[in-house]
Amino acid sequence: MVLKPDLNSVNFANIENSVNFVLILNQQNQLDLEYVRSQFPGLNNGWTYFDNAGGSQILTGVVERLNDFLYKRNVQTGGSYETSLKTSAAVLEGRSAMAQFINADRPEEIVFAPSSTVALNNLAEAISHQLKPGDEIIVTVSDHESNIGSWVRLEKRGVIVKFWELNKDSFELEIEELESLISERTRLVAVTHVSNIIGTINPIKEIARIVHSHGALICVDSVAFAPHRLIDVRDLDVDFLVFSTYKVYGPHFAVLYGKYELLLELENLYHYFHGKDEVPRKLEPGNPSYELAYSVAGIVEYFEEIGSGLTVESGKREKLEAAFEAVAIHEAGLSETLLSYLRFRNDCKIIGLESGTDYRRVPTISFFIKDKNPDQIARSVEKYNLAIRFGDFYARRLVDYLGYGDQNGVVRVSAVHYNTIGEVESLVEAFEKELN
Ligand SMILES: Cc1ncc(COP(=O)(O)O)c(C=O)c1O
Repeated sequence: MVLKPDLNSVNFANIENSVNFVLILNQQNQLDLEYVRSQFPGLNNGWTYFDNAGGSQILTGVVERLNDFLYKRNVQTGGSYETSLKTSAAVLEGRSAMAQFINADRPEEIVFAPSSTVALNNLAEAISHQLKPGDEIIVTVSDHESNIGSWVRLEKRGVIVKFWELNKDSFELEIEELESLISERTRLVAVTHVSNIIGTINPIKEIARIVHSHGALICVDSVAFAPHRLIDVRDLDVDFLVFSTYKVYGPHFAVLYGKYELLLELENLYHYFHGKDEVPRKLEPGNPSYELAYSVAGIVEYFEEIGSGLTVESGKREKLEAAFEAVAIHEAGLSETLLSYLRFRNDCKIIGLESGTDYRRVPTISFFIKDKNPDQIARSVEKYNLAIRFGDFYARRLVDYLGYGDQNGVVRVSAVHYNTIGEVESLVEAFEKELN
């Protein structure tokens, strides 16, 4: 049985990044799904991908940029000849596009890395020189290991790492708990924007305010947020933030944002002759992949293109906002279609918010079904060419903390805006056939 979502009941309470109600009420913000899907050739191979939190399909515009770079500008930067100047300009173009994407002040605040894991490891190493034995770092039990392990490794230098635990009933990080952990020795709080299992947006702006009021820094993992909502580092007032472009319709690559003056203070990770003021170069040892750096501008072009059909505003930022508002509305429909079915089953435990129309929910939906192994559930729908997944998704501490470690983790269905309601209905029908 497939229940139709009631999008009029979208709960816009608790929205940190405010949504343009006029757009929503006028229903002007419908995604043109035909256009959207035409931009992802990888969707045409007969499979329906609900493993997007693992990695999304790539945009044609991004692949075209890769080709364009490799065929026309594939030389070393920093030379005085024409092609080299074009190569340097290409890398700057990608950096500027990412700065625009997350509303950073300047392109130098964008540090490229091969992955978010590497970016966070590098950040922890570069900041460790500012830490003294007895200084404290707070990490959460709900983060991906990338934003935990990098900080836990600093224990060998005498840093004390404290764990911010989760409310096991609501699956939420509670502010009171943070307030009980934070002290005058706290130097940094590392927290996920959205857990890649739970799918609930954490109140980062509020958390940043509390962290700053104690004189500490905040490092946010936005990997599971970035595909679904527009990041605004200035509005959030975060110090450091990471996301992976291969989950935001681009290539395997990542962005570390840092406030410029904080990046200046970090230790040099490159050759000894690179100055401390060489930001971001000193934090990109060996240089980033130029072609990937250039290609990620295609992500921003795509969302701008979607947004220009949805708003009369001419500013780039307004277009991106309009695009992501439409993404959020469409994704609420996807979430609610699946969640209404899961709620209707009386043998299913949803790990996270149970309503798809709560704005805080992204369509990364994990659950388990009584007496059914997650492994068995994921494999049972493969014959319908439906790709879902089971496991701990490297949020192993969370899965162990919730007590699911012994049962192969959880089942995760992770949709993004190019998925259709029809695809979710097909998944529900497959569950109905296979899991009763
Ligand atoms: C929430 C979250 N953080 C961090 C990572 C690590 O990203 P990367 O593969 O770019 O190192 C992932 C990857 O799945 C993730 O889901």
